[in-house]
Amino acid sequence: MAVVTETAATNGVSTAVKHKVIFVLGGPGSGKGTQSAKLVSEFGVVHLSAGDLLRAHMKSGSKEGTMVADMIANGQIVPSYVTVGLLQDAMRDSGKGVFLIDGFPRNEENRAAFEEQTKITPEFILFFDCPAETMEKRLLGRQEGRTDDNLETIRKRFKVFEEQSLPVVQHYEKTGRVARINADRDPEDVYREVRRLFEEL
Ligand code: C5P
Ligand code: MG
Repeated sequence: MAVVTETAATNGVSTAVKHKVIFVLGGPGSGKGTQSAKLVSEFGVVHLSAGDLLRAHMKSGSKEGTMVADMIANGQIVPSYVTVGLLQDAMRDSGKGVFLIDGFPRNEENRAAFEEQTKITPEFILFFDCPAETMEKRLLGRQEGRTDDNLETIRKRFKVFEEQSLPVVQHYEKTGRVARINADRDPEDVYREVRRLFEEL
C-alpha cells in the first residue's frame, strides 16, 4: 500500500506521521457506522465519522455550529472548510496513522478539498451498496434522537446521496480503488465479507 508522509509544513495534520486513509461510503442507513465499529474492535484502526464530528460541532454554540445544525436537519452537505478542518483536527489529535473515514467525501467539493488540503490519497474505498427501501426501514427504526431521521429529511438525504455522493464513488471506481459490498444483508454477514477484504488488503 502506498504511504503518504506528511510534514508539519504541508497542512498541520502531523509531523512526519504516515497516514493511511480508507473512506467508508454508502447511503444513509447502509451500515457505515456499524461496520466501522466492528473494524475498530478487530483491527485497531481509528474510526472518524464525518457526521458524528459535525453533530458534535453543531453543539458548540458558535455561529458555524448553528449553520451546521440547520444543514443537517435539511440533509444538506456542509461546506468542506468546516468538515475537512474537523477531520484534520481529529486525525492530528488521535496521534495514530490509519483512519477509517466514514460518510466522507459526500460530494465532489469534499473530495477535492480533502485531497488538496491533506495531500492524502485513500488506500481504498469501502462502498456499502444498499437499496433505498432497506435503508429507509433502518433509519426509521433507529432511535438516536437525530434531527434528520424523519421521513421528510430521509427522502432529501437519499436525493443528495444519488445526485452528489454516488458520482464520488464513480470517480473512485475509475481508479480501481472501490470495494463494493452488498449491504442488504444481516450486519454479521456483511462483516464477514468486510473482514476478509481487510485481511487481504
Ligand atoms: O453520515 P451521517 O448520516 O451521520 O451524516 C449526517 C449528515 O451530516 C448528512 O446528512 C449531512 O447533513 C452532514 N454531513 C455533511 N458532510 C459530510 C458528512 C455528513 O454535511 N461529509
Ligand atoms: Mg453514521
